[in-house]
Amino acid sequence: MNAQYVNSLHAVKVQALVKPTRSISKLLLEEDRLERFALSTSGLYLDLSRTPVNLEDWSRLLALARSADLERKRDAMFQGQVMNPTEGRRVWHSLLRASAPPSHEVNGRQEISSQASAAFKEVQETLLRMRAFCEKFHQEGKITDIVHVGIGGSYLGPELIYQALRKQPQSVAKNEALQVHFVANVDPYAWDRLAARLNPATTLVILASKSWTTPETTLNSQTLRQWFEKSGLSSEEISKHWVAVTAKPELAQKTGVHPEQIFPFADWVGGRFSVWSAIGLPIMLACGTEAFDDLLEGARAMDEHFQEAPLERNAPVMMAMLCLWHQLHLGSQSEAVIPYAQRLARLPAFLQQLQMESNGKRVDLEGQPIQLPSAPVVWGEPGTDSQHSFFQALHHSPQAQAIDFVLVREHQSDPRSLFLQANALAQIEALSLGHPSDDPHRHYPGNRPCLVIVLEKLNAKCLGALLALYEHKTAALGWILNINSFDQFGVELGKVIAKQFEPLLQNTDLAMPNSMNRSTQSLVQKLRV
Ligand code: F6P
Repeated sequence: MNAQYVNSLHAVKVQALVKPTRSISKLLLEEDRLERFALSTSGLYLDLSRTPVNLEDWSRLLALARSADLERKRDAMFQGQVMNPTEGRRVWHSLLRASAPPSHEVNGRQEISSQASAAFKEVQETLLRMRAFCEKFHQEGKITDIVHVGIGGSYLGPELIYQALRKQPQSVAKNEALQVHFVANVDPYAWDRLAARLNPATTLVILASKSWTTPETTLNSQTLRQWFEKSGLSSEEISKHWVAVTAKPELAQKTGVHPEQIFPFADWVGGRFSVWSAIGLPIMLACGTEAFDDLLEGARAMDEHFQEAPLERNAPVMMAMLCLWHQLHLGSQSEAVIPYAQRLARLPAFLQQLQMESNGKRVDLEGQPIQLPSAPVVWGEPGTDSQHSFFQALHHSPQAQAIDFVLVREHQSDPRSLFLQANALAQIEALSLGHPSDDPHRHYPGNRPCLVIVLEKLNAKCLGALLALYEHKTAALGWILNINSFDQFGVELGKVIAKQFEPLLQNTDLAMPNSMNRSTQSLVQKLRV
């Protein structure tokens, strides 16, 4: 950790302790506030002005981002360097949406490394295979239902995008009746209820797992396999309904998936960054190849913005700096994400994994405990529903929490859309500015940071840009905090311990190990049937 970084961090921390906290309503009166804190890029309009940061705070945050070497790290990520040192991996999801392999400067000339060319070629080959599969699928028109089996990053992105785009006119696939169902949870009810409604002869299964070892996905795929076998379809017929998407094609093949039905992606694609890879196959099938292309194009536009815009006008970097500031200055421990669009209902769940699995870390890159808060808790539900549940706490809890509002420009000829947008604006006003009252029960303190993102349209391009914006915000925050955003060792321990409980729950005669504490013994006993 260089001395400049340590000093800049110290300066930000000291600055953040200033009391009373900055007043958003006063800051909004600054003449050039909007010029500094609002911008348009890649089909998105961002208004980041409603935040308790003044120009001095801002310049210290910028100094911190610079001393964290953010620009060099960003460029190294796009170049395909190893940015996930604990797992020795590149972090190269940007290549999945690139229009050409990245070049780098050698002796004043731009060159493309053989590694970048080869990786780009592989990405394009898989995309071509996906397109051909899609075409054949729609020509045959036999399938009415797709069951996408996967969990975490192998599921959240496809589900969000499918729900967001399935009704878009430009993404209506030829096969009008096509439905995609997602089976992530291993709870038998997740699949059993669905099974009763589906016909194996018209169902395609997509098994999505980067590692091909995730127990939930393995168990669910076994259950689906049995369902197919019981249907009387021949194994040759079944194999046509069985597709794998994975970074371990050799393992998928060993479990009997036909090589032509396997769509690979590289191990440099992190699970939570993988929707742009073959993991997006159900999106391509259900929303159309054009929609998938547009999705990549939107993300690419945001990649360009992230690489080219100066840090003080760089949307992902600005959001990352504000995320840190809200924690340090206000003590905000969470970020609520409120999409005012039912089609984006799964956006909070997607962003939760993206940001919390990436930045929920306890040590820095050198393995030392971090002296800063890491990932805030990300949560949320669509508006206006959420106004009628947890907004009371957002307005009146003593502890302010930050809120991201995601809005969509829609025709307001429909009174319902009008109502939705009017309410979004009203909440942004009330939460950030407050409203005084002599009655303490009816007083609104305001000063809740509200970051507002408006999508030009709820289409594939804008959605691609939105998701890439948050991907880069996540990476930028990780670099500012000097942590590795790209591993996730925190999820491993539970997987190991679960294995010890399986025999104890299955065999009720098995004695509890002496080493097991009494609380656990009694819980196992309670669950034994
Ligand atoms: O357990 C967490 C995790 O590894 C996530 O990082 C990942 O997105 C998810 O499980 C699913 O993993 P896979 O795609 O390998 O099945």
